[in-house]
Amino acid sequence: MNKELIRVEDLRKYFSIKMGFMKYNYVQAVEDANFSIRKGETLGLVGESGCGKTTLGRTILRLHEPTSGKIFYDGEDITHVKMLPYRRKMQIIFQDPSASLDPRMTVGEIVGEAIDIHKLAGSKKERTERIQQLLTQVGLNSEHSNRYPHEFSGGQQQRIGIARALAVEPEFIVCDEPVSALDVSIQSQIVNMLEDMQKDMGLTYLFIAHDLSVVRHISNRIGVMYLGNMVELAESNELHKNPLHPYTKTLMSAVPVPDPAKSRARKRIILEGDIPSPMNPPSGCRFHTRCPYAIPRCKEEVPVWRELATDHFAACHIL
Ligand SMILES: Nc1ncnc2c1ncn2[C@@H]1O[C@H](COP(=O)(O)OP(=O)(O)O)[C@@H](O)[C@H]1O
Ligand SMILES: [Mg+2]
Repeated sequence: MNKELIRVEDLRKYFSIKMGFMKYNYVQAVEDANFSIRKGETLGLVGESGCGKTTLGRTILRLHEPTSGKIFYDGEDITHVKMLPYRRKMQIIFQDPSASLDPRMTVGEIVGEAIDIHKLAGSKKERTERIQQLLTQVGLNSEHSNRYPHEFSGGQQQRIGIARALAVEPEFIVCDEPVSALDVSIQSQIVNMLEDMQKDMGLTYLFIAHDLSVVRHISNRIGVMYLGNMVELAESNELHKNPLHPYTKTLMSAVPVPDPAKSRARKRIILEGDIPSPMNPPSGCRFHTRCPYAIPRCKEEVPVWRELATDHFAACHIL
């Protein structure tokens, strides 16, 4: 499981926002991300809402054009290439299944569209069989293909979104908070299905969540983001046992623990102040305005992303 499938180097994504006549401002959504995702692994990505997780995932897929930096897929630099051949290998499952399915298309058309774009069926019969097989694979009835998305529950809609992603036999899937919009009771069904799919098909995932408890069990490694920056990345257990970055520590302290004695022993760290705007992020370390350990240097200098222990990366002046 060591060969990398995805690598990003100094990847940056700014959105320009028109502020008035000839006046623009920039949302610095992702700032200089450097990491890789290994073949067959799940890389979890966590951080508060608005910290740039979706932007990072979509930029890796080139659904957003990067502002600067590089993206590699299986060793190939794909930063500026035509994406059609890679669209087949790289897919996304969206956060809000109802918004990501065209209400005017039947389930069969939704799943079939990807098969058509990439010419994956030799005949009409083969196409129909493939759609039915995909629906069965995600736990839906193969007779559902003539129905419309609104006729399904949220969980079933997400299954349709998953069938659409699987239709092209991808290698890499960005799972963008795939269960956040669903009832808690069905979240684990979907997560379990994604895990089974990964085992069966050898898939590689970037699994985005705003909650550490969701990604802990399914991720091999976890990256933590704050205000556009990746602040820490480590193997999942290592990150939980030995969080280094002050922001990761605050996130950890917010995760409920089942053991009440341990829970009482642990101090919950509450961050002061609001999350700053990515249009005008703090100088130096973006976390310095809220960091309980900040020193003067944190305001002046951007901390360097470093490997502090084997496969454990962080960017912080006090480490
Ligand atoms: N298309 C866009 N145009 C302008 N700003 C955007 C766009 N998409 C996201 N943003 C901004 O970029 C920042 C990161 O957003 P996002 O990646 O959606 O965060 P997350 O997924 O972690 O909640 C936010 O401030 C958001 O408002
Ligand atoms: Mg998001």
